[in-house]
Amino acid sequence: MALDIFKITGPVRLDGTVTISGSKNAALPIIASAILAPGKTILNGVPNLSDIEVMCRLVESLGCKTEAVGGKIVIDSTVIDKPFGDYEIVRKMRAGVCVLGPLLARCGKAEVSMPGGCAIGYRPVDIHLRGLQELGAKIELKNGYIVASANGGLKGANIFLGGPFGSSVLATANILMAAVLAKGKTVIESAACEPEITDLANCLVKMGAKISGIGSPQLTIHGVKDLNPVEHTVIPDRIEAGTFLTAAVITKGKLKLKNCRLEHLMAVVDKLRTMNIAVEENADGCEVSSNGHIRATDITTLPYPGFPTDLQAQFMACLCMAKGNSVVTEKIFPDRFMHVAELSRMAANLRKEGPHVIVSGVEKLIAAPVMASDLRASAALVVAALAAHGETIVNRVYHIDRGYERIEKKLNAVGAKIERQSV
Ligand code: EPZ
Repeated sequence: MALDIFKITGPVRLDGTVTISGSKNAALPIIASAILAPGKTILNGVPNLSDIEVMCRLVESLGCKTEAVGGKIVIDSTVIDKPFGDYEIVRKMRAGVCVLGPLLARCGKAEVSMPGGCAIGYRPVDIHLRGLQELGAKIELKNGYIVASANGGLKGANIFLGGPFGSSVLATANILMAAVLAKGKTVIESAACEPEITDLANCLVKMGAKISGIGSPQLTIHGVKDLNPVEHTVIPDRIEAGTFLTAAVITKGKLKLKNCRLEHLMAVVDKLRTMNIAVEENADGCEVSSNGHIRATDITTLPYPGFPTDLQAQFMACLCMAKGNSVVTEKIFPDRFMHVAELSRMAANLRKEGPHVIVSGVEKLIAAPVMASDLRASAALVVAALAAHGETIVNRVYHIDRGYERIEKKLNAVGAKIERQSV
């Protein structure tokens, strides 16, 4: 793994147009869904990211063949002869666990490593396992692996998928993918409503699945005997778009975002307007501009359509330079605050109290060497560095590369000064 660093010189003012890539979090479960439809599934608009490569390696290890050209990925799932998700792959990326549902549906058995630890806090998989058990799967945990079988096939059921922090995105994906080939009717209550789940459901419907209630917390699935491979284009990445919105805000800049669907960012746009930022929709995206005065506001993360946890860190970076005090509350991952200590190193005024951070706006941020910890925390450091005075060094850039396609190239094209160096 290359241990690249970013050298970021600030402050800059961003101005120009950025094209948003396809959604990582939509593409990951959709790659897994190809397991359900023997043959060649073609996915367009897939971002070129290390997490996508890991997912392709995982489905290859099951027997699939994959081919990636530009933003297109072809997954040939004619043969699945090893329903085994190796620890060495799954530990690198939690989304790997969502091959479990499709493998059980297609092969009647699956053995998938429990995902590894994670910088954003403890992330159990109990909801995934409970849902699969409701569909009739027998599940055991053995040497760090989830060993699942459904000898007589999966059977439809009424399943409640809520957890202590609301719905679960990947558990909904996993159970949905298992239920589409189960015998009879499944009703998922408290299903995640994130646009990435809607995209997966739409792709499954194209394959021949019978799903109603798509986009709502109640999904009804009538199992079918088999599914056919299809061609599908993944939705634009709302989190990448949201990150560029914060880059415009913190640099008092103006950006046009192409391939951005503002209807997936309602809570975010609402917050931006409260913060005194203008956001206008246009034909293929939106335009954001700041007059230089960021108003403080409180942010609480919630499941969709609430404010996304994946933009909490980037918004906190902006609030560091707002006029007044803000309270940021994390209700999805209460420990997702790795960026707080690093932003403080850049002269932000932050105080953490349990799942809350009190942000007192400062006049200016000052460059410092900082450490990227997880994907979105790292993005927040890049955003902060655009406005910070001096040269910020962001270490461990590989975290950012997991979820942002050429972030430094996209930012440099609109006025940033970011240099990638291999150390
Ligand atoms: C997805 O993770 C995303 N990952 C995350 O994006 C995102 O932060 C998260 O949803 C919330 O929106 C992908 O789509 C690949 P959850 P997921 O299950 O599905 C608890 C990024 O930066 N929970 O919806 O794993 C859990 O601990 C990433 O791109 C259980 O208790 O998240 C959390 O508190 C990071 N038991 C809450 O539910 C379970 O079995 C929501 O998590 C599962 C989850």
